[in-house]
Amino acid sequence: MNPGGQGVVVYGAGGHGRVVADVALAQGLGVLGFVDDHKAPGTVLDGLRVLGGRDWLVASPGCNVALGVGDNTLREDIDTWLDARGVPLTTVVHPSAILSRWASLGPGAVVFPAAVINSGASVGRGAIVNTGAVIEHDTVVGDFAHVSPNATLAGGARVGRSAHVGAGACVLPGRTIGDGSIVGAGAVVNRDVPANTVVVGVPARVLRHLKNE
Ligand SMILES: CC(C)(COP(=O)(O)OP(=O)(O)OC[C@H]1O[C@@H](n2cnc3c(N)ncnc32)[C@H](O)[C@@H]1OP(=O)(O)O)[C@@H](O)C(=O)NCCC(=O)NCCS
Repeated sequence: MNPGGQGVVVYGAGGHGRVVADVALAQGLGVLGFVDDHKAPGTVLDGLRVLGGRDWLVASPGCNVALGVGDNTLREDIDTWLDARGVPLTTVVHPSAILSRWASLGPGAVVFPAAVINSGASVGRGAIVNTGAVIEHDTVVGDFAHVSPNATLAGGARVGRSAHVGAGACVLPGRTIGDGSIVGAGAVVNRDVPANTVVVGVPARVLRHLKNE
């Protein structure tokens, strides 16, 4: 998971990144600090320093990176940049999370406290399984998707690439959330959601379509 590097840096020093750092420390990883393109180097957050921006990473070969940016599109852009430079990603899992031996996690995925990922589930590259989320058996969480705190994916549900399931939402068994779509907080998804669509409510209904559609 962290092949022979000099330590882990968390890319992104916002609220999400600080939780990623906290989880990485709880996991026993040696966290060197944050990389952030907008915060001043030397800034200390939760006891960890901002080391610098992308230039710092270029000048510091051998680091592994945990993805600490909550925005799905930005996180994917950062991953593309890191991948082009051969920077290895770290997968971060809190010790209180329950991860089936028959589940898989992609590189750079993060799993926050008290999340449950059950048998046959597949969590993609750079995906976020947030605090207390339940990822049931045989589900698929796409690359760079985000399942928010206390959201539930019932058995066989699928969340597309870069899609976002809001806090406390529930996706019923076998339903699909299309790529880039957003499920509002507290929604119950009982029908498939097309790509690039925002749905809200119980049962979930279309609120709007996103511009890329
Ligand atoms: C669904 C969501 C993306 C919509 O955001 P938005 O496009 O900015 O929408 P607005 O806030 O302008 O609201 C538009 C309408 O939808 C309603 N609405 C917004 N979110 C809603 C939700 N979760 N459930 C039900 N209705 C909702 C608003 O009340 C408003 O209704 P109105 O036009 O009748 O007044 C957002 O509200 C949401 O739920 N995001 C999830 C956030 C989350 O869980 N983050 C976790 C981070 S860890």
